[in-house]
Amino acid sequence: MYRYASSVLFLASVFAFQLSHGTEVTVRDKDNNLCLYANLTVNFSVSYEVAVNKSETAMFELPGNVTTDGSGCDNTSSTLKLNFGEGHSWSVNFTINGKTYQADTITFSYNLSDATVFPKSAVNGTATVNVKSQITDVGMDTCYSCKSKETIEAESVNQTLWNVLIQAFVINNSTSENFTSCAADLPTTPVAPTTQPTTTTPAAPVTNSTAPPPTTPTPAPTLPTPTTGEYSVKPDENSTACLMVNFGLRISLNSVEMNFEPNGTTSSGSCGVNSSQLVLTSNAMTITLTFANDTKKFHLHALNVTGKTSSGVAFSEANTNLSLWEATVGSSYMCNKEQNYTITGLLTLYTFELHVQPFGVKKGLFSTAEDCQADAENFIVPIAVGVALLVLILIVLLAYFIGRKRNMASSYETL
Ligand SMILES: *[C@@H]1O[C@H](CO)[C@@H](O)[C@H](O)[C@H]1NC(C)=O
Ligand SMILES: *[C@@H]1O[C@H](CO)[C@@H](O)[C@H](O)[C@H]1NC(C)=O
Ligand SMILES: *[C@@H]1O[C@H](CO)[C@@H](O)[C@H](O)[C@H]1NC(C)=O
Ligand SMILES: *[C@@H]1O[C@H](CO)[C@@H](O)[C@H](O)[C@H]1NC(C)=O
Ligand SMILES: *[C@@H]1O[C@H](CO)[C@@H](O)[C@H](O)[C@H]1NC(C)=O
Ligand SMILES: *[C@@H]1O[C@H](CO)[C@@H](O)[C@H](O)[C@H]1NC(C)=O
Ligand SMILES: *[C@@H]1O[C@H](CO)[C@@H](O)[C@H](O)[C@H]1NC(C)=O
Ligand SMILES: *[C@@H]1O[C@H](CO)[C@@H](O)[C@H](O)[C@H]1NC(C)=O
Ligand SMILES: *[C@@H]1O[C@H](CO)[C@@H](O)[C@H](O)[C@H]1NC(C)=O
Ligand SMILES: *[C@@H]1O[C@H](CO)[C@@H](O)[C@H](O)[C@H]1NC(C)=O
Ligand SMILES: *[C@@H]1O[C@H](CO)[C@@H](O)[C@H](O)[C@H]1NC(C)=O
Ligand SMILES: *[C@@H]1O[C@H](CO)[C@@H](O)[C@H](O)[C@H]1NC(C)=O
Repeated sequence: MYRYASSVLFLASVFAFQLSHGTEVTVRDKDNNLCLYANLTVNFSVSYEVAVNKSETAMFELPGNVTTDGSGCDNTSSTLKLNFGEGHSWSVNFTINGKTYQADTITFSYNLSDATVFPKSAVNGTATVNVKSQITDVGMDTCYSCKSKETIEAESVNQTLWNVLIQAFVINNSTSENFTSCAADLPTTPVAPTTQPTTTTPAAPVTNSTAPPPTTPTPAPTLPTPTTGEYSVKPDENSTACLMVNFGLRISLNSVEMNFEPNGTTSSGSCGVNSSQLVLTSNAMTITLTFANDTKKFHLHALNVTGKTSSGVAFSEANTNLSLWEATVGSSYMCNKEQNYTITGLLTLYTFELHVQPFGVKKGLFSTAEDCQADAENFIVPIAVGVALLVLILIVLLAYFIGRKRNMASSYETL
């Protein structure tokens, strides 16, 4: 009977091992609500001393069988601590940063006294390494996903993470269907069709051996200037616009650039006294621009871009703490030159022929424009035009006086 039970247990554990690809854990808060979910695979490579200046390297995986003692969550921070083997642990702490969360530090502690993992170790006791995590800018209520392998190197320890699925700050006891993908998972080939010769890539870039492997060295192919779209929001169907935005838009997601296509884009939104919103929905993505009116001035306060890349990876990038495109309420903001704005670590926005008025639009027309600084250097052009005009006027005047003189002379003759 006892043997039977133990073999069932054994089968169950083998089954569990085969089902889970990696280590899967959940953490509950003090009210027993699910607050953190993680499923990940980690390989460790640890160099340790076995004799005076002689070292060995131990390689092992994070086992499926871990305990989560030491893990916990509160409203603004949470900790995932995975304990395994004879006193080893791997832990990450998460904090909220506006509308996103991030993992701050990964702490790995290993017990050098564990002779099965570190045979013949010359040192006894526990060693600890702290490394900075690459898990940043994860949208709230989204799951961080990274299938790609990522190696974090530290003095004497390399950690390779892959098939990572982590959600901190879980809401309503269930993990989100929406994901924030890591940079490495996003496509690195441009979405827009470009005639980029692939054969003329230069010879292997000269990198010295100590340099880390080059991250996406994609030589950005030059996209055509995006079409300028004219978008507006009306309070109701019979009214004139209360918010107007004209611009050509390009977004760069992890260095992959795509032009935003106005054709087929629907705009909606709302106009308020202190806050107005424009929502642009195209096949590829939804862009939400939120403007704030702080009594005298307005500015773009928040930007949220969600969509799917051409390879079907969902993304959601948002920044709710911007102060761009500032101008006096009652006027409009204009910037004709190409501009780029870093919105999040992954998202950069490019605007072309920007003209925006989120408050106080009258008769469906833009009010006086306040030009962006970047256009200031373009004053050269009006000045040049002005000088040219002046010269022209002088020439005309001169011609007039000469003509008049001649006329007068000839009129004397006729007299
Ligand atoms: C960590 O990786 C680097 C680069 O691949 C390698 O040179 C180093 O020996 C590795 N360290 C360990 C402890 O495996
Ligand atoms: C061991 O380290 C000492 C100094 O720390 C050095 O003089 C010696 O050459 C090293 N031995 C080997 C075998 O590298
Ligand atoms: C992880 O470690 C295991 C066992 O050491 C090894 O079989 C596997 O190839 C490693 N995987 C990676 C991606 O390094
Ligand atoms: C480290 O490993 C040794 C040997 O397995 C064990 O006796 C000791 O309790 C472990 N240390 C910790 C902190 O668990
Ligand atoms: C961004 O938009 C998506 C979809 O509209 C929404 O689910 C998400 O909460 C928004 N994020 C922020 C930070 O506003
Ligand atoms: C480490 O511990 C083991 C067993 O506890 C002992 O045999 C060994 O001498 C210790 N080594 C050092 C360097 O303290
Ligand atoms: C996922 O995002 C979509 C919009 O992008 C939203 O409508 C939906 O509610 C989100 N789902 C979850 C589970 O958060
Ligand atoms: C490697 O590159 C770094 C930074 O570019 C430089 O300081 C260093 O001298 C280079 N090393 C070699 C061996 O070229
Ligand atoms: C808009 O105008 C049409 C005709 O002038 C009218 O039938 C309709 O009710 C109006 N709609 C609103 C929202 O005022
Ligand atoms: C917009 O798209 C429609 C069909 O998708 C096409 O017929 C039309 O020509 C396009 N208009 C412009 C200006 O590109
Ligand atoms: C901007 O905000 C101020 C103060 O809240 C308000 O008095 C003003 O009417 C607002 N302007 C517009 C155009 O809504
Ligand atoms: C962004 O704009 C700055 C100047 O405003 C320019 O120097 C920089 O090259 C631009 N970056 C990109 C990626 O276009």
